[in-house]
Parts: sequence; C-alpha cells; structure tokens
Amino acid sequence: MTSSKLLSLIFLHQALVVFVLDLPNAEGLKIGFYQQTCPSAEAIIKITTAQYISRAPSLAPALLRMHFHDCFVNGCDGSVLINSTKNNVAEKDSAPDLSLRGFQVIDGVKTAVENECPGVVSCADILALVARDAVSMIKGPYWPVPTGRRDGRVSTAQNALNNIPSPFSNITQLEASFGSKGLSVKDLAVLSGAHTIGISHCFPAVTIRLYNFTGKGDTDPTIDPNYAAVLKKICKPGDLTTLVEMDPGSRKTFDTHYYSIVSKRRGLFQSDGALLSDSETKAYVLSQISSGSTFLKDFGPAMVKMGKIGVLTGKSGEIRKRCAFIN
Ligand code: HEM
Ligand SMILES: *[C@@H]1O[C@H](CO)[C@@H](O)[C@H](O)[C@H]1NC(C)=O
Ligand SMILES: *[C@@H]1O[C@H](CO)[C@@H](O)[C@H](O)[C@H]1NC(C)=O
Ligand SMILES: *[C@@H]1O[C@H](CO)[C@@H](O)[C@H](O)[C@H]1NC(C)=O
Repeated sequence: MTSSKLLSLIFLHQALVVFVLDLPNAEGLKIGFYQQTCPSAEAIIKITTAQYISRAPSLAPALLRMHFHDCFVNGCDGSVLINSTKNNVAEKDSAPDLSLRGFQVIDGVKTAVENECPGVVSCADILALVARDAVSMIKGPYWPVPTGRRDGRVSTAQNALNNIPSPFSNITQLEASFGSKGLSVKDLAVLSGAHTIGISHCFPAVTIRLYNFTGKGDTDPTIDPNYAAVLKKICKPGDLTTLVEMDPGSRKTFDTHYYSIVSKRRGLFQSDGALLSDSETKAYVLSQISSGSTFLKDFGPAMVKMGKIGVLTGKSGEIRKRCAFIN
C-alpha cells in the first residue's frame, strides 16, 4: 500500500470516528447539538441561570422539579411551560403543577438565547440545561445534557394528572409509573433523592398523611411518631399555605441526607417512605447512609435517562418562540 493510500485510510478512519461520535443516539439527542447553529447557547443559559440562582438559590429545586414534571408528561418537550388558553387547560393549571415555581427563569433564559440565535434552541432543551445548571450552582452534581429536543404543541391538565406520580403512591404505583417511562427501580430510588433539596406545601401531601390518612382522622402509621408530632406543629389541618422542608435542616444542600431521614421513617411523603417497602429500593436507601454512598455519582446518569423520555427530535414538534405559547 502506498503511503498516501495509508494516510487517506487513516484520515478516513478519523473522519468516521468523528462522524460516529457526532451521530445522535437512538433518541436523536447528542451532546453539543447547538455547536454549529448557536455555539454560545449553553454559555448564555448557564450565565443567565446563574443570575437568577445567585439571587434566589431556592429556585434550584423548583427548576429541577419542573424538568421532572415536563419529562413525565408527553416526554421532555417543554409542554409544562405552556400557558392555558380560552380553549385549553394546560399542564401548568393541573393540581400537581400548581406548586411549580420558576417559570420566570425559563422565560428570562429563553429571551437571552433568542437575542443571540432566534428560533434555534428549544424550550425543552433550555429547561433540561437550566435544571442541570441550577443544581450544579447550589453545589449539587453536574451532568452532561444531550440536546436536540424539540418543543411539543400539546399541553393538557388531564395528561399531567394521569402521569405525574402522586405523593400518596405506594411502592407498586411508583414502580409502575417510573417503569411506564422506561425508568428502573434503581432510577426511582436515585431520582427520589432529588427530595434532598426544596420545600413542600403542607397541603395536601402532608396534612392528609397526618390528619386523615384513611379518611378516619388518623395518621399514617408508617411515619416516625416523633416526626409526625413535629410536623403537626408546622402543618395544621386545613392549612393551604405553610411550607415545610423536604429534608429538614439540609434542604439547601444536595447531599445524601434525604436517604438518612427516609431510613428513619421521616420521609415527608408516603412516596418517600415507600422506598422502604421494596427490597431493592430499601437496599439503595440504606447503602447511601453508609460510607460508600453512590448517590452523587448516580444522580447525573439517572437525570440523563429521565431527560430522554419521549423526546421529539428531527422535524417533529417545533422550536417555540416563547416558551409559554405554541407558535
Ligand atoms: C417519586 C415520585 C415523586 C413524587 C410523588 C413527588 C412529589 C412531590 C411533591 C408533592 C412535592 C411538593 C410540592 C409542593 O407542595 O410544593 C415535591 C417537591 C419536589 N420534588 Fe418531587 N416527587 C417525586 C419525584 C421527584 C423527582 C424524580 C424529582 C426530580 C428529579 C423531584 C424533585 C422535587 C423537588 C426538587 C421538589 C422541591 C420543589 C420546590 O422546592 O419547589 N421529585 N415532589
Ligand atoms: C403565562 O403563565 C404564567 C404562569 O402560569 C404567568 O405568570 C404569565 O403571566 C403568563 N403569561 C402570559 C403572557 O399570559
Ligand atoms: C398500592 O395501591 C394500590 C391502589 O390503591 C393497591 O391496589 C395495592 O394493593 C397497593 N400495593 C401495596 C404494596 O400496598
Ligand atoms: C377525611 O377524609 C374523608 C374521606 O375521604 C372525608 O370525607 C373527610 O371530609 C376528611 N376530613 C377532613 C377533615 O378533611
């Protein structure tokens, strides 16, 4: 073989490797999807997110939760961001989404990105990136976010009700819900660890568990009675406004403390406590409170997997001009 043939083979080989690395994965997403079309997109998103989070770190948990709710309803297609109209009650106005916060962050980031590259970067990708950046800015884990999602054109409150797991779920229901999205029992155990940060309203998840568990004025017998007494001082029956920490004393820190409280039957919701009722999720909980905890390195890969649920790619969907409105 001549040396020039050999050289061209080597170059062809390199080109092929680059090509293969560049190919979208099975879901049509890839790292750096906007590299050619809007090279500064991810930097603009990070800087703008930082401006919001530095002023209000408590928005980080809210944005993480918003991404979860987006992905579980119609896939990660930005449908959670759409406003209701005269003819449509959107996801935002469903019971589980009424407590979402931080839409102004997504709108602010979208405006900054549109100023640089109009009509290129989807709201679904912006939400996935903002959730990652917000968590990383409060010193949580960092994960690479494959991009290339497109925005959906459908958002209904009923879809949200049907797909977002309820805090009253038992372990069978949680595993079925996550399983229906292609997520494993381990993913459930890992992603539930998101409750290491943030807050909840007393009503309904906490007050029903404390005061009317089976509809007879009783308390969930699986909650640590000492903790139930503490919660009853914070959350009175019928209180619609008071907020309670998900992971008391550690709600601002992305750490393994959630698993510690769950192991002591002090998880805030039935769905948190339910992780003790399956041998696999229980083993995960217990393994996180010993010295060899893996949560901080498990979380990113589980988020990447969640971020691929039902995505629209290629020519499907659209790139919304404003995240709250279909084009
Ligand atoms: C396993 C099933 C899950 C259930 C039943 C559930 C339920 C809830 C509920 C009821 C709240 C309180 C909302 C409020 O009253 O303001 C909440 C908060 C939160 N959830 Fe979950 N969740 C689940 C899984 C997840 C997952 C997978 C994530 C993210 C990966 C997540 C992230 C959060 C965060 C960060 C908060 C705090 C939000 C804030 O501070 O505004 N949750 N969750
Ligand atoms: C869209 O909905 C959000 C929150 O649901 C609200 O704050 C915002 O004002 C709405 N935007 C418009 C233009 O109606
Ligand atoms: C979970 O809840 C469902 C619906 O209420 C019920 O049919 C099932 O028996 C429960 N499973 C467990 C393990 O408690
Ligand atoms: C308790 O639950 C029962 C049955 O769901 C309901 O009829 C009753 O109104 C509830 N009580 C309170 C105080 O919410």
